[in-house]
Amino acid sequence: MSTPPCRVAILISGSGTNLQSFIDAEARGESAYTVCHVFSNRADAYGLERAQRANVPTDAVAHTEFESRDEFDRTVGDILDAHSPDILVLAGYMRILSAEFVARYAGRILNIHPALLPAYPGLDTHQRVLDAGETHHGSTVHFVTEELDGGPPVLQGRLQIGVNETAGQLMRRVQDIEHRIYPQCTNWFAEGRLEFRHGAAWLDGKQLRRPVVEDF
Ligand code: GRF
Repeated sequence: MSTPPCRVAILISGSGTNLQSFIDAEARGESAYTVCHVFSNRADAYGLERAQRANVPTDAVAHTEFESRDEFDRTVGDILDAHSPDILVLAGYMRILSAEFVARYAGRILNIHPALLPAYPGLDTHQRVLDAGETHHGSTVHFVTEELDGGPPVLQGRLQIGVNETAGQLMRRVQDIEHRIYPQCTNWFAEGRLEFRHGAAWLDGKQLRRPVVEDF
């Protein structure tokens, strides 16, 4: 009897190009996961249309309708649990998660951040990297903990910054990389190769002291 695929719920707030890369990899038969549900805190997120086109169930609930972050996150958790996800994938989900939500899915939330963490947490990373005169940039898939952009990094896609490259050009190159490394890293989890143990990321039974780095 074959094991059922790992069930991935994807949380978005916007365009959902990363979500699309998960859907496409699954359609190509390159995934050990299935996208079981997409949730957005914005009803106008274009990613919801992408999911519907792929026949993935969706829900949208506005955080603005709730008195507190805890209350909103509790509702989101109940909506997600109706689809029995094994892992949550944050893909441009522009909400800070409550401690209670992170604990509810402890070790089962991944995020992607457009910088080589721990460098450049926060927003506007492409411009900040250029302003600082960095030679390299990229994106990081990491486990989510209570610390914003601070959970253990797992996989980084790295690129060399071109002469006179603009923040817009950099953003597009970083996004192309994200569309490859995020489904790949989630597959590691789906295959049972990747896990979160005692606050650290473990790959193939070894603790990752630093992330796996792929150069593009
Ligand atoms: C990505 O660049 C990701 O690094 C960041 O949000 C962006 C989401 O883009 N967390 P999209 O909605 O997947 O196109």
